[in-house]
Amino acid sequence: MKKTILTGLRPTGNLHLGHLFGAGQNYIKLQDDYNFYLEIADVQALTDNFNNPEKVRKNVTEITIDLLSIGLDPEKVNFFIQSKIPEIAELTVFYSNLVTVARLERNPTVKTEIAQKKELFGNDGESITYGFLGYPVSQAADITAFDGEVVPVGEDQLPLLEQCREIVRKFNSIYGETLKEPKAILSETKRVKGLDGNEKMGKSLGNAIFLNDNDETIKKKVMSAITDPAKIKKDDKANPDICMVYYYHKLVNKKENNEKICTECKKGARGCVQCKKELIEAMNEFLNPIRQKRKYYEDHPEIVKEILDNGTKKAKQRAEEQLKKVKKSMKIDY
Ligand code: TRP
Repeated sequence: MKKTILTGLRPTGNLHLGHLFGAGQNYIKLQDDYNFYLEIADVQALTDNFNNPEKVRKNVTEITIDLLSIGLDPEKVNFFIQSKIPEIAELTVFYSNLVTVARLERNPTVKTEIAQKKELFGNDGESITYGFLGYPVSQAADITAFDGEVVPVGEDQLPLLEQCREIVRKFNSIYGETLKEPKAILSETKRVKGLDGNEKMGKSLGNAIFLNDNDETIKKKVMSAITDPAKIKKDDKANPDICMVYYYHKLVNKKENNEKICTECKKGARGCVQCKKELIEAMNEFLNPIRQKRKYYEDHPEIVKEILDNGTKKAKQRAEEQLKKVKKSMKIDY
């Protein structure tokens, strides 16, 4: 029997290269070997976007299309929408007895996020909502509703996984062995750097290349990418290792091209403008198959809807079974 994987994404924006290399390619490998549930976490997205429901709504479809366009196969991956599985909300209520407020406040991921969201939660997090503070509990429900054994996530999510494991242990110790403790698997690829050279590519950092960027946008973004600041003239020698243009060549261009680019750059035999033009071409070539698939799904919204409906139906059945088991253990199976 295949093991069950569960992972989730907040529908708050389109996917970028960071998502693709950090998570997406990992999912593509995993989809063959696991029973794969992929949650579009709209309820979680609302915890810090409760005042912007249109954004969440729009991005449920957008993110699903992004994931299909990079090669996730709906025959192998069960796409589902979190809010359509009320069992997750019920589990959240039950689990909330098993975690202290102090423990949630100490969760490093939650702490970092509160600090980043001053506009929403105040300077010292004094306006933090109950819902946001509790989202790790809801995420534990996401995972355990499907008996998720393996959870592919980025490093920033490890404290949330640990929180889930603690809830599972507590549940089992009080109500008897019922839930499985999930394990995290980290994506093999490290973070993808941003156009500005920042260690992390991020939507909110304004340094991302999105999978649905068009030719014109790619051109503008690549032209703005940071190169070796010591290279001023076309024939100055430069260090490709501190150049973002070379960094992206390595991600999307062919190996033999990159070897040539590297040697020429070091020798002062290549200008940055030429190098950027070649990157624009390589980037477009890399993105074109993704764009073509995106166009197909954009032209066929009924197919996207059907994929989400089918996946959600299967997920609902699985979560219903799990909730029965949980309620029995908790002696509320009237
Ligand atoms: N918190 C995750 C993120 O921000 C998204 C998520 C929701 C998730 N539910 C999940 C990840 C369950 C793993 C498992 O990226």
